[in-house]
Amino acid sequence: MTNPKIEQLHALKKEASAGGGEARVAKHRAQGKMTARERIETLLDRGSFHEVDAFATHRETNFGMQDKKFLGDGVITGWGTIDGRLVYVYSQDFTVLGGSVGRVHADKIVKIQDMAIKNGAPIIGLNDSGGARIQEGVVSLGGFSDIFLRNTLASGVIPQISAIMGPCAGGAVYSPALTDFIFMVKKTSQMFITGPDVIKSVTGEDVTFEELGGAMTHNAVSGVAHMAAESEEDCLYLIREMMSYLPSNNMEDPPYEATMDDVLRADNELADIVPSDPSKPYDIKEVITRIVDDGRFFETQEHFAENVVVGFARLGGHGVGIIANQPMVLAGVLDIDASEKAARFVRFCDAFNIPLIVFEDVPGFLPGVNQEHSGIIRKGAKLLYAFCEATVPKMTVITRKAYGGAYCVMNSKHIRSDLNFAWPTSEIAVMGPDGAVNIVFRRELAGAEDQVAKKAELVDDYREQFANPYVAARYGYVDDVIEPSETRARLINGLNMLQNKRDTNPPKKHGNIPL
Ligand code: HXC
Repeated sequence: MTNPKIEQLHALKKEASAGGGEARVAKHRAQGKMTARERIETLLDRGSFHEVDAFATHRETNFGMQDKKFLGDGVITGWGTIDGRLVYVYSQDFTVLGGSVGRVHADKIVKIQDMAIKNGAPIIGLNDSGGARIQEGVVSLGGFSDIFLRNTLASGVIPQISAIMGPCAGGAVYSPALTDFIFMVKKTSQMFITGPDVIKSVTGEDVTFEELGGAMTHNAVSGVAHMAAESEEDCLYLIREMMSYLPSNNMEDPPYEATMDDVLRADNELADIVPSDPSKPYDIKEVITRIVDDGRFFETQEHFAENVVVGFARLGGHGVGIIANQPMVLAGVLDIDASEKAARFVRFCDAFNIPLIVFEDVPGFLPGVNQEHSGIIRKGAKLLYAFCEATVPKMTVITRKAYGGAYCVMNSKHIRSDLNFAWPTSEIAVMGPDGAVNIVFRRELAGAEDQVAKKAELVDDYREQFANPYVAARYGYVDDVIEPSETRARLINGLNMLQNKRDTNPPKKHGNIPL
């Protein structure tokens, strides 16, 4: 026997799952994109999604909008699980009014933002939107503002992840910008405040959507995005992987994952990784992958400011955040982009109880008029501030150079690092031997008969006296000089030793990081 009430429910659910209709869905798929529902199904554990507000529709009547109503109003919202852990999700449906954000669409997102904050679980936004719904005017701007407020209030309370899965325009980019990590899909996703047509009319510049705000533009040039996925499936899989490193909220520790990788595993090849010539580069990522559990390093912002490397890994099963200078790029120097990239990562880890591990090989801050005039003082100070205020367990391994201000900044003991190790190859000094000799012995050099020989002698002398880890070790500025091979064991031991660490900052409304 059929029950008409149940049939009506089935019919309405079917209508809600049809999005903007067959033609629009076909056009969407033809661009190589999944539907909003398929994205949720791919992201979450099978069958775990629970939807709310599937019957919501807008109440707008201007511009013939009363005839353009779609159940769900262009966004699918609810919750489910990733590896059995609760997450909240919204997924915008571009086939419905271009995924544009009107009052009801915004209210749906706001509802699950509030639930996520209240219940202490991450929120993942799958964004595909033309921005503020033009027909709804200021009401739509109000809706966006309500979302931005929740993004800000949730910051540091629950992890917020954004995936950009289509053209995200106007207001649609600012909610992702307020979240912790932005994933983009190569070739099919873009972010921009104003599109190519507006830019052409205002500045006369010719630019394509992809050049303006494609995945590689925001991953390699602007630094707005953190991950560039090869496809939508890849993007959703990467989000699942990142979630495995993150706690559900700021009151939890990151998930522990048992490992078969021996906690005492020594790697003798690490001893030969730092070249004897201090001006020769080596790949710090090789150092990292040799030390962490199973060689697994989940790098973020891989294509931006490559002179610093950041990402998640595990040591003895415990999740950690890694920040490392990269000698392969600009000799690992700290510049504006590297400082901002690392500072934001440090603050994320500190907010979510993820211990920090620093691998340091840094010749200093990048000299140059452009850097100075672009604000390296203010922007470099962000990284200093971030390390200073962080109260999670903090450890540093100096592999080679720790020069000047960069020595202080890169998680030195003086700014509350808990355990600092130096490899015997370390050079810890105010500056490199060449520059130091030029300044300190200017007069001797000028008066020397053979200036080249004199300089070589003075540089050797300086290196002998200062460019080693033992001066710092005598003051207790490094806790121990260790063999490279034992780094993994020493870091894991340090993490265990620090597992009950308690440290706080003075009570305050909030600090004033040099933004
Ligand atoms: C209402 C919109 C819309 C919008 C797209 N649509 N954007 N409807 N409000 N903001 C509708 C279109 O009318 C169309 O409806 C459908 O979505 C698909 O759009 P197309 O243009 O056909 O798609 P495509 O060619 O793929 O181009 C996608 C796009 C383009 C690049 C995103 O639609 C576009 O430029 N949209 C406007 C982007 C924009 O300027 N947004 C800023 C709004 S102001 P039909 O019925 O034909 O399928 C803003 C300020 C907020 O957001 C500030 C807060 C801080």
